[in-house]
Formats: sequence, structure tokens, C-alpha cells
Amino acid sequence: MDMDPTRTIHRLDYTPPSWLAERIGLEFELDPRRTVVTATTRYRRNPAAGAGPLVLDGESLELLEIAVDGTPLRDGEYDCGPAQLSVTRALPEEFELRVVTAIAPEANTALMGLYVSNGNFFTQCEAEGFRRITWFQDRPDVMARYRVTLRADRERFPVLLSNGNLVDQGDIPAAADGAARHYAVWDDPFPKPSYLFAVVAGRLAATERSLKTRSGREVLLQVWVEPGNEDRTGHAMQSLVEAIRWDEERFGLELDLDRFMIVAVGDFNMGAMENKGLNVFNTKYVFATPRLATDVDFANVESVVGHEYFHNWTGNRVTCRDWFQLTLKEGLTVFRDQEFSADRMAAESDSPAAAASARAVKRIEDVRLLRAAQFPEDAGPMAHPIRPDAYQEINNFYTVTVYEKGAEVIRMLQTLVGRDGFRRGMDLYFQRHDGQAVTCDDFVAAVADANGRDLAQFSRWYAQAGTPRLAITGRHDPAARSFTLEVAQASPPDASGRMPVLHVPLAVGLLDAQGRDLPLRLAGTPTAQAAPEGSAAQAPGTLVLELTGQRQSFVFVDVDAPVVPSLLRDFSAPVIVDYRYEDRELAFLAAHDSDPFNRWEATQRLAVGAVLRTLDGDDPARAASTLVEALRRSLGDETLDPAFRELVLTLPGEGVIAEQLAVVDPARLRAVRDALRMRLASELEADWRGAFARMGDQGPWRADRTAAARRALKNVALGYWVLAGAAEAREAAATQFASADNMTDRQAALQALVSGAAPQRDAALAAFATEFGDEPLAMDKWLTIQATMHRAPGEPPVLERVRALMSHPAFSIRNPNRVRALVGSFCSGNLAEFHATDGSGYAFWAEQVAALDALNPQVAARIARALDRWRKFTPERQAAMRSALETLAGREGLSGDVREIVGKALAA
Ligand code: TRP
Ligand code: ZN
Repeated sequence: MDMDPTRTIHRLDYTPPSWLAERIGLEFELDPRRTVVTATTRYRRNPAAGAGPLVLDGESLELLEIAVDGTPLRDGEYDCGPAQLSVTRALPEEFELRVVTAIAPEANTALMGLYVSNGNFFTQCEAEGFRRITWFQDRPDVMARYRVTLRADRERFPVLLSNGNLVDQGDIPAAADGAARHYAVWDDPFPKPSYLFAVVAGRLAATERSLKTRSGREVLLQVWVEPGNEDRTGHAMQSLVEAIRWDEERFGLELDLDRFMIVAVGDFNMGAMENKGLNVFNTKYVFATPRLATDVDFANVESVVGHEYFHNWTGNRVTCRDWFQLTLKEGLTVFRDQEFSADRMAAESDSPAAAASARAVKRIEDVRLLRAAQFPEDAGPMAHPIRPDAYQEINNFYTVTVYEKGAEVIRMLQTLVGRDGFRRGMDLYFQRHDGQAVTCDDFVAAVADANGRDLAQFSRWYAQAGTPRLAITGRHDPAARSFTLEVAQASPPDASGRMPVLHVPLAVGLLDAQGRDLPLRLAGTPTAQAAPEGSAAQAPGTLVLELTGQRQSFVFVDVDAPVVPSLLRDFSAPVIVDYRYEDRELAFLAAHDSDPFNRWEATQRLAVGAVLRTLDGDDPARAASTLVEALRRSLGDETLDPAFRELVLTLPGEGVIAEQLAVVDPARLRAVRDALRMRLASELEADWRGAFARMGDQGPWRADRTAAARRALKNVALGYWVLAGAAEAREAAATQFASADNMTDRQAALQALVSGAAPQRDAALAAFATEFGDEPLAMDKWLTIQATMHRAPGEPPVLERVRALMSHPAFSIRNPNRVRALVGSFCSGNLAEFHATDGSGYAFWAEQVAALDALNPQVAARIARALDRWRKFTPERQAAMRSALETLAGREGLSGDVREIVGKALAA
């Protein structure tokens, strides 16, 4: 029994379970106040493991009965602590254990295990929630077949769902006093770990669709929502159908159940959960109607529906041996959902060039997230390899590193072996491991063996924390007619204290004076290959150099004149490239690079450079001059996809720029970046006005990508135009706000009025609350816009507004979406206000983390991470943050979740 909340689990301590659970029967007497769960499990000694007692996990369970093969255990035959139950009597090789427990779903505010949301029952078991339902070996390498019987009041809980197939249902004769009850029996034919178990029960309505799979089987698809919301499910259903088709085509993977269900719930700790056959979703990733959801929301619904569906193979059919292997399923599944979205966007394009641009847009969005969230994580106190070596609380390791960097590692594998090679690797992976719980090494081995490649050096990516840097120089030698790229890689030391040399695919091109790709010929025979088909870096002028040494030179021959290198095309590896570009070279790349990712990248570098130089005391006008002209050109280039232009015209966020500074003064950073935005607004005022007009003549709302891309560009133009301050622009925004027939335009207009501190701002905020007061997901947008406000001169601190909003009826500290929208956005998304020098933001943070921790430790720990980067700030801010961290750390009864985050921050 181990009750120390700061206990550390180590990857290398893994041992296989002594007992295997083959079948489990679960019976639920569902009652919000007190639910009784009977678990009858067939156990068998694991021939592949050492002998050991049966030790089960449990949390907040009331034990009512326990029996082996029908004989109740007496005192002394078992040992039941708060977290573990060991059966101490001698056990036969095979036996049946019956455990009856009682749980309190209504009192469950942590939203793990069985809980109640708006009167309905839901479960969340990943990673370790099943132990809040019954005593069990709650670890992913124990896979069992589940048969589930649900009994409940028929009136209050007419719908009873669990994993697999519905095999029986009916009424239960009413007791003399009681209300009518009914039951349903579900059987899941596939063995699964406990984290994939799910139950949903309550008043729900489904939209349905039937579909023939590739092999001709008829399957039933359902999306379950609270009655009245059925008309919000169309896009999710369509996304599910597209996801099923895509996995059949791209990976030859078919749906393996007769029924596939998605259920939406308003109270949910994360985005969604891939329970076998019964995915449970945050409503945010199901509901999509133009009135309430933005184009970004529509895209997110598609990608999360895809993500959870793809887990059916990458996660469920083949699962993780232990939680250190989490990226095995998450990195791979994020990679798959990214590819799905990219293929979907490309499919909607009407030319190959448009398709390439659409893919690049998706790639840029993904890399933007990586840089905004993962790079800082990898540079801070929570840095960990995509396969961590140790954790205190596994919930804290559902991170952007495991997910997004994990996806980048999979993408590099595909780049190294090509698209077809990657498919061969996937095929071999399923051939070898279907039905098993395996490790990241097993995946890499399948890709290596299917392609006859040695990926031993590549595997270091799984062990390496921190973002590697590539220091690159380029030199043209006119006499030798050659161009030499010198590349040196540097990574933080790994667990063994040495700097690992990684295997890095580096996609490069060379632009001649006209901006054309030079045909690339390397001297000697270093490993390099044409860019793989399907990557955006597939122009003939792109080579993928394979870095395998700490320092390497690549000599390109037949280079007559100086060139500008285009490095890390399509972001071929999750690294930082240090290359001393001149502004004019960046402007040249922005205008000419055949790789759209690097065109965007060049403007981002220009923008970061302008901010950094201004912070260093350069004249702001001079620092920004190249950027202004580059953006003017992009904005007016009608041959470019509007969605791509929108990305080019959006400046890197404060957080991304802050990462490049040695010491961050968030107030100064905001002042300089806001001034740069203002400069762009006024210098290009006529251009913004023109783009707004050109992109605005759309007629009624349409969902398609072209329409969404035009809205995106129109709205970025509107934002700048309003910022420039003309009354005409403000009126245009106010008009758009009032008359928009969709949330994209309405939210953007509101955001423009708020960012531009327009006089119409307060009326618009009030009007939004009147219109959408009873739509929680819309009100989240309203909360976030206010939490992230930049304070206009003479206005009170934004924190005052945030505190007031916490008493608004739209807010609830019990709902994770509301908390993230208001508290999370303020603490992590409003640097200058959160880091006010009086320490008020930190006091608020400590107060809110403590309050949340008592209700929902998982959500509290996420908010706690807002102080991760405290070491990067000015000394007086550091001191104030340290004391806030210490205050929190000193609190009694803090959860293990928050304790780990705060402890690591302080140790940094
Ligand atoms: N496995 C889920 C996914 O990636 C996410 C998840 C993990 C989750 N733990 C959770 C969701 C807890 C909700 C609550 O799709
Ligand atoms: Zn996932």
C-alpha cells in the first residue's frame, strides 16, 4: 500500500502482471447517489510472469463483498487499503473473483470514473479511472473481454450504453414501492484494457446513419446528445463517415464493430475519449452549426472525430504495455488525424497547386501549435522525452510533447522511409501486434523491418527531452562551383548525461537569383533522398539530407552563383534552425520559395526579428521595414490561397517571441509587439480595407474550405483595419457583428472591436451575452475574448474583469471548459496582465489552483502549469512567482497532480 502522493513511477521498473483477467462481468445498479457495482472476473496465473499475489487497484471505493469461487473472503485472507487490495490467501491457477463495491457518482467532481453531468451518467477511465469503479488491475497490459449489465430507473435513464454490441434489454418488474426500472446487456467481443471501458446512461437522443464498410459489412453509426441538440450533430456524423473511409483507403483499416457510437457531454476533462465502440466527446468537439461554431471549431470537430476513430486501431486493437508508452498511441494517432485533415483539405481544392497550399496551411497550423506550446514545455521544468522515464501522476503526461512532438517523430519516420514504406511498416505492426499491449520500440521495429532499415539511432528521439538545435552555415565557392552547408546539431544531455546525436531528416532546397529551385546534386554519397511523395516538400528541387553525425558538411555541386538556402522545408524535423539570414534573404524566400511552409516561415522570422531588434533598442520603423513590405506583397498576391495569406499576416504570439528572449519583461514585449501591429495596421491601412472588401462579398454562409479561407483573410484584415482607428472600419466591424449569419464573422468582429478598443466594444460584448447567454460553448468565446484583452490606456487591470466574470452566470468553476476559457486563458494567454508587477496575477493563480484542486485535480494541474516558465522572467517577477509557488506547495491536502507540477517548477 502506497499513499505517498509524490511517489515516482519509473519506466524501467516495469514487470508483467502476475495474473491475467480474461473475462469480466460488470453489473451496475445505477443510482446517482450510490451506485452498486458487481464485478465478476475470471483470473488466470500469467505463465510469463513471476508468481505473486493478486493486487488490485482502487480509489474512493466502498467494499461491500469479496469472494473467490463463491466463497466470501474472511478477515486475514485479504488486505484492503485505500489504494490497493491484495488477496493474501492461497489461490488456484484459475479462479473467479467477485467484488461488490459502492460508489457515489453525484459527488464525483473529478470527472474520472463514473460521474453525473446534467443528470446523466458518464465514465472516464483513461488513464486510471477504472479503479474508481471497482477493484481491478488498472493497467493497460491487462486485457479482458467485458460483458456489462446496466440497471436503472427507466424514466430518468431511458438510454443505457456500453462498449460493443447490445445483446439484451428489457424491463425489470417494479418493486412494490419503486419506480419502473429497466436493463441493458452489452458485450464487447474484443479484449481491452480497463482504460477503454465506458458506460453512458440517461436522457439522450441519437442521430443515426448506416454505412457499408469496405468489405461490405453494414454498420450503425450513432451520435448521442441531449434531446434538442440533434441538429448540431450533422458535421460530426459526416466527419465520422469521412474518417472511416479515409482509414480504409490510406491504411487499409476497417471498422471492426457492428455499431459505433459517439456521445457528447458538457462536463469533460479533455477533448474526447476513444472507448471501444463508445467514444465520449466534449460537446465542444461534437456540436457544429454556423450560428454557434467558428470555422476553426468545424475543423477541430473533424480532426477530433478522426482522432478518436483512428484510435480504434492505433490504441485499441494495439494498445500500450504501460503508460510510459503513451506516445505509441497518441503520437501515432495525432499524426494520423493530421494527415486525415490535410487530405480532406486537399480533396476540397480545385487544382494541384491549391491542394499543395491547403496541405501547407494544415502543416503551418500544426507547427504553430508545436512552437507555441511544445517548445516551451520542452524548455521548462516539465520537459520530458516523448516516452518519459518517470512520472508521479500519469494525468500530467498527456502533454503536447507526448502528443504533438510524438506526431512529429512519426512524421519523420514517414519522411525517412517514404509514404509507401510507412504503410508497409503499419501493415507489419498490425500483423505482429494485433490484440497486444506493446511498446514504442515494437512500433519502430516494425517500420525498420518492413523497410530493411536500421532505425537504432532514430530511436533516440524517444529518449531525448528538449528541442534540438541545428546550427547551419552556407558558403558558396565560385571557383569550385559549389555550395556547402555545414550543419552542427546540439541537444540537451539525455538521461545518461551525454549529448545524443540524433538521426534528423533535413529537407533543403537552394534558390537561385530568380527564386527558382536549383536542381540539387551532392558531391560524394552522403545519405540523402528525394522528398517523399505526399509531403509538401516534394518539389523536384528538394532533398532530404539525413543528419547522423554531430557535425556534417553537404557539398552541392554545379552551383555557379550565390544561392539562398531554404532549410527544413515543410518542417521536416521538430528542431530549431539557427541560420544567419539577412532580412533581404528572408523577404526573397517569402516571395519565391517553392515550399509554402518556408515562405510562411520567412515572414515569421522577419516578424520575430523586428520585435527582437526593437527590444534591443533599434529604431522600430527600420526594424520593421522589410516585414511591412513583405506583408504588403503577400496580402495583395491574389494567386495565393487566402487561408495561407491569413497565416502569413498573423504575427507570432507573445509566448513564441518570449521563448527567444533571455529575460522576459512581458509588459515591454506587449508594448513592442502591439506597436508593431499598430504600425502594420496604419502603414497598410488601404490594403486592409481593400482586402476586407474583396473577401467580404460572399453572400450567405457556406461551409466549404474556399469560403472559410476567404472569411479567415477577411477577418484578419478587419482586425488590422479597425486597429488603424478609422471610424469607417469600426462601423464595418460593428455592422458585421450585428448582421453576421455565422460565428466566425461574429466572433472576429467582436474580437476586432475589443482589440481595437473601439467605442462600440461594450455594447457588442453586452449584445453577445444577450444573444448567446444560454449557449455555454459560445459564452466560452466571450469569456476568452475578455480574459485575453490587452488593457487600453486608463483602463483597470484585466484581472478585475476576470474576477467579476467568475460571478457571471455563464461561469462555473465545476466545468472544465468554463475554467479553461476564463482562468486558463487569463493565466496562460494574457502574459502582460497575468505578470503584473504587483503580483496580483500570481495570487489569483494560487487561489484558483487551490480551489480547483479540491474539485478536479486534473484541471487544477493544467492551470498550475501557467507558472512553468517562471525562471524566464524579470527578477522581481521571478521572486513573486517563487513565493506563489511556495505558498501553494505549502498547502495541506494538495493533490498529487498539482504537487508534481509545483514541485518540478520549484526544483527548476
Ligand atoms: N486518450 C484521449 C485522446 O487522446 C485523451 C484522454 C486521456 C482523456 N485522458 C483523458 C480524455 C481523460 C478525457 C479525460 O483522445
Ligand atoms: Zn488520443
